[in-house]
Amino acid sequence: MNTVQIKDKCFVPFIKEADILKEVERVANEINRDLENAAPLFISVLNGSFMFTADLMRFLTIPSEVSFVKMASYSGTSSTGQVKELVGLNQSIEGRTVVIVEDIVDTGLTMKRMLETLEALKPKEIKIATLLVKPDKLKVDLKLDYIAMKIPNDFIVGYGLDYDGLGRNYRDIYTILK
Ligand code: IMP
Repeated sequence: MNTVQIKDKCFVPFIKEADILKEVERVANEINRDLENAAPLFISVLNGSFMFTADLMRFLTIPSEVSFVKMASYSGTSSTGQVKELVGLNQSIEGRTVVIVEDIVDTGLTMKRMLETLEALKPKEIKIATLLVKPDKLKVDLKLDYIAMKIPNDFIVGYGLDYDGLGRNYRDIYTILK
């Protein structure tokens, strides 16, 4: 088996590039159908979603724009210590159809925070497109409009996703060897 080693962890092949692309194309077609006349603004959440965003955009045929943002952690004064803040959005989204493009929804807390921040900017509507979701780990109630793949609870890398900064370049997705 084609295992890869990243630092202290071993990963094994999980989802092949061709299978990923099939699902990305399906999601793009759903968006092409649903948002044909909405001229959506895609907001891609870096770093993890760069590959998904690039492939998704290539399958889109409707008029649309894309912008890249980050949820940056900083040590806030809240009791939890870590607060995430949206950085990099430098255009108005007021009255627009926005599609958040995310790599993976795990607990959903990052997405929840992102939604709250964007809702305050008065868009017409916000849709969520995620490459992956780990349904068993979801802690918050989220409406995920477009999901490419649902996966079990294990840690994965590749196709944009990292372990400690590494592994984003793999074309396939790998799962941790237990
Ligand atoms: P959440 O706030 O728990 O939903 O976390 C979402 C973020 O955690 C994602 O955008 C990823 O950056 C990261 N993440 C969650 N699960 C994985 C994984 O299995 N591999 C790599 N990154 C992950």
